[in-house]
Amino acid sequence: MYKKTLLLIGLALSTTLYAQEVDSTTGLIIDKGLSDVKENCTICHTGRFIVVNGGDKEFWKKKLHIMQVAYGLWELDEEAKERLLNYLSKNYSKKVNVSIDK
Ligand code: HEC
Repeated sequence: MYKKTLLLIGLALSTTLYAQEVDSTTGLIIDKGLSDVKENCTICHTGRFIVVNGGDKEFWKKKLHIMQVAYGLWELDEEAKERLLNYLSKNYSKKVNVSIDK
């Protein structure tokens, strides 16, 4: 009985610690840098474009560059850019094979 209770507490704790919380308006993972994404990315399109993509910092740097040269993303100051790229490569690093040439 006692053991079972402990186990349940452990389970509850681990799910709260490991569940990634998602922002309700953008559907993006809540982490440092999300406010930059909200200010600079999801005003034009949904977070879906970010969720379905994924790669390392270099990958996201290229995406960001594409946003600037092709779609009208404004210049970002270095700090905001760094926060954005860290956020994206940390939380959306999965699909490394997605083509970046488009
Ligand atoms: C000024 C508007 C604008 C801003 C700001 C903007 N985007 Fe985009 N983005 C677009 C448009 C337009 C598309 C193309 C939509 C389509 O294909 O229907 C797009 C598409 C994308 C795609 C999918 C296409 C691809 O090449 O993979 C990704 C990923 C993306 N944006 C990421 C970002 C990120 C990250 C930011 C913030 C740093 C950002 N965007 C900011 C306009 C913008």
